[in-house]
Amino acid sequence: MKLIKCPTPEAVAQQAAQFVIERINAKPAAVLGLPTGGTPLGMYAELAKAVREKRVDMRDITTFNLDEYCGLPPGDPQSYDVFMRSNFYMPCGLNPPQSHIPNGNAADPDAEALAYDAAIRAAGGIDLQVLGIGHNGHIGFNEPGTPPDSRTQAVQLTDKTRQANARFFSTIDDVPTRAITMGIGTILEAREILLLVNGADKAEILAATLRGPVTPDNPASFLQNHPCVTVIADAAAMP
Ligand code: PGA
Repeated sequence: MKLIKCPTPEAVAQQAAQFVIERINAKPAAVLGLPTGGTPLGMYAELAKAVREKRVDMRDITTFNLDEYCGLPPGDPQSYDVFMRSNFYMPCGLNPPQSHIPNGNAADPDAEALAYDAAIRAAGGIDLQVLGIGHNGHIGFNEPGTPPDSRTQAVQLTDKTRQANARFFSTIDDVPTRAITMGIGTILEAREILLLVNGADKAEILAATLRGPVTPDNPASFLQNHPCVTVIADAAAMP
């Protein structure tokens, strides 16, 4: 894995945006896998600025998001669909046919998951998958115990993940218990992976991800088996 250490989360955002911009400029019809969460917010703001300043053209890209909660009403402000609309699709001028996110309200979540993997394949596979990491090592919503060959599927969220995400909801009881997530196998099929990590509270899991055993106990450790991973982290996460 290639490691890039930045002094601050702002510098991580700039480096990450530059990384994505270079990939799109090299391949204007690039297929991107994208995360939600607090970590990528700065990168999305930098990408929107780059679009405004015409440093990148996103008209021909296709995007697939990692995951979506199950059971939130359509348009719920905490849904990842709304997150992506506000922070990326609208500011960067992406149109609905270009941008994909699992439907957390699908009547048949298993069929939705199968169709999602098929859509990624039909688009030619993911050129660059951007990831955050959970404190428990989850990537997407692949919680500890998930095998490395898992495909996109409906999953149960751990208490740790629900507690970490409760900051976005009124109460912990409002945090959904299930989600549809790309599988670890799906993620590892991306031709290139960019992992973003900020904060001292992620230092331990990042060290385990880079140097610890490759084990389902830390789903992110499977990134060690991928030939083309770059990690951009701030100084607090990579002391
Ligand atoms: P965060 O979430 O960016 O909000 O820390 C990361 C994750 O849970 O994957």
